[in-house]
Amino acid sequence: MAKTILEVKNLKKYYTQSKGLFSSLRGNVGIIPAVDDVSFYIKEKETMGLVGETGCGKTTIGKTLLKLAPATSGEIIYDGTDITHLSSREFYPYRKKMQMIFQDLDAALNPKMRIRSILKEALTVHHKLSKAELKYRIDDLLEKVNLKKNKLSNFPNELSGGEKRRVGIARALAVGAQFIVADEPTSALDVSIQAQVVNLLKDLQKTLGLSYLFISHDLRIVELISHKVAVMYLGQIVEMGMAGLIANEPRHPYTDILWSSLVDKKSSEVNRSNEENKKAGGGGFDFERPLEGCRFAPRCPVYYSKNKPDICTDPSSSPTLRDIGDAHKVACHFPL
Ligand SMILES: Nc1ncnc2c1ncn2[C@@H]1O[C@H](COP(=O)(O)OP(=O)(O)O)[C@@H](O)[C@H]1O
Ligand code: SF4
Ligand SMILES: [Mg+2]
Repeated sequence: MAKTILEVKNLKKYYTQSKGLFSSLRGNVGIIPAVDDVSFYIKEKETMGLVGETGCGKTTIGKTLLKLAPATSGEIIYDGTDITHLSSREFYPYRKKMQMIFQDLDAALNPKMRIRSILKEALTVHHKLSKAELKYRIDDLLEKVNLKKNKLSNFPNELSGGEKRRVGIARALAVGAQFIVADEPTSALDVSIQAQVVNLLKDLQKTLGLSYLFISHDLRIVELISHKVAVMYLGQIVEMGMAGLIANEPRHPYTDILWSSLVDKKSSEVNRSNEENKKAGGGGFDFERPLEGCRFAPRCPVYYSKNKPDICTDPSSSPTLRDIGDAHKVACHFPL
């Protein structure tokens, strides 16, 4: 059986934010529980998809795993070692194995460097290479990510979106990545190019044995590439299971809504929930959101169809992830 490459236990990442100039002068700050008690594991050569609306905490999970932002509490275990509290020096050997492909195509690549220099920098950051080795490694990288040789002399702004993304992937490989957090790697790309990027990541996984945390707000893309999927809402995982189950038998009302917004299932419940969604202003945090009881209640069609059962909003009975069989977990008092 494949070994577990990454295990995350009860991870929390809270940000503090002032509620406005005057309240900040009075020292009145709000806590944003961007990631609030999240646990999961990823096996070698496995892809876990992380899906949810903008602002639900996906990028924060990725950054916290890679120690680009310190965890508030919880444990991050990489290949058997608890890396949560390692110093930068102790984390150094892990930094090359754990890489992030950032969402913003343009911010990710230095606009003043030619592609050759970008790859060279990544290849030599941890290793000294001779000229001949460097040429061999660059050619090898180009082949791996299907990028033409003549692009090496280009600057990033001379490349298409798909090509920039390939350079980003090549750079992660150059450093020596084994585990990659791919943060919305297909956003801002045309549909046909999205499929190419997904296929490239899948091929690289097969040939190089990579593991991925694949982040997207688009459940269709996530299902294409992931072995298992976690659905996030306001800092918490509300449903998790094999990709096929999440796609075909979603049990949390929120996952169902994510699908219906794509598939356009026009049930009255969904329409009602979309109205609630608009009122509630999407999936991000604000200080009016319920952080006790079920966070999804204000938008939940089941909650309304059952005449607002107290258990859904009772602070002492927040729904937690329960296994409902076949390693399918749901955090809901009334799963579909
Ligand atoms: N550096 C930060 N300081 C304060 N709040 C932040 C910071 N980064 C993210 N957040 C907040 O944390 C929440 C989750 O953000 P993020 O992880 O970027 O969500 P997603 O990637 O799912 O869109 C949001 O409410 C966001 O505003
Ligand atoms: S616990 Fe209640 S409010 Fe929350 S998702 Fe389930 S039915 Fe909806
Ligand atoms: Mg994000």
